[in-house]
Amino acid sequence: VFVRELSGLTDMEIQLQSILGISKVVILPQDSDEIPAVKSHIGKEAARLLEALFGRCKKIAVTGGSTMAAISKELSIGKPDRTLQFIAARGGLGEDVLHQANTIAAAFAEKTGGSFKTLYLPDHLSAEAFAMMMKEPVIKEMMDLYDQTDVVVHGIGNAEEMAVRRHSSLEEVEKIRSGGAVSEAFGYYFDKDGKIVYRIRTAGIQLEQVQKASTILAVAGGGSKARAILSYFNNAPTPTVLITDEGAARKILELT
Ligand code: BG6
Repeated sequence: VFVRELSGLTDMEIQLQSILGISKVVILPQDSDEIPAVKSHIGKEAARLLEALFGRCKKIAVTGGSTMAAISKELSIGKPDRTLQFIAARGGLGEDVLHQANTIAAAFAEKTGGSFKTLYLPDHLSAEAFAMMMKEPVIKEMMDLYDQTDVVVHGIGNAEEMAVRRHSSLEEVEKIRSGGAVSEAFGYYFDKDGKIVYRIRTAGIQLEQVQKASTILAVAGGGSKARAILSYFNNAPTPTVLITDEGAARKILELT
């Protein structure tokens, strides 16, 4: 506590809470862009916050990403809790396997003794295939689970970087660019004002379902994500808690 106060992190958390319009921001020291261990520190903090919810929150939707993977490494609960259920927030297969929501959901379940629900679907379905898929009972079952989600844990990415990571088509990249997308979270791309400019055509949690969750943990750090964080929080659900680092926080303060 003393170190945090000395370094001004507590003040920065309060400033960021008011800038982003949310009630809780946790800032870890240093910048994960420069020091990779900082991402693990973000993961550890997010893991502790999540574990504190396990008593009353059982259905937890998780996205993919390297920051999410850092949380799964830090999860540790005393005895296995079979009542926990981790749900992959999206059916995407576009990214590196280790960073897919499906893999993260399985990893969270393994660490806690809970169960998991995955959805293996390509990231880029045609309009026809998408319409057909949505009628499939397994997809309907996922949609019902998203409706019952208590907690959503998600990363925030830079729009262009995510489009590249997902091997998006030229047509999609064009939509993302021309729409002025700055950030990405759970398959949605947002412009600087937080307006949705594009959404990946695959089955996944809807923004309205995220908004219904009682707690949302957003995990993203590094100075390079400052703009993306600002963009996303222009329209983010208010029960969101942001777990970030000093690198992102300082840059956000500079930009605002
Ligand atoms: C993706 C998530 O897999 O990872 C996104 O679906 C998130 O919601 C992104 O924006 C962030 O990734 P990272 O590796 O920067 O934590």
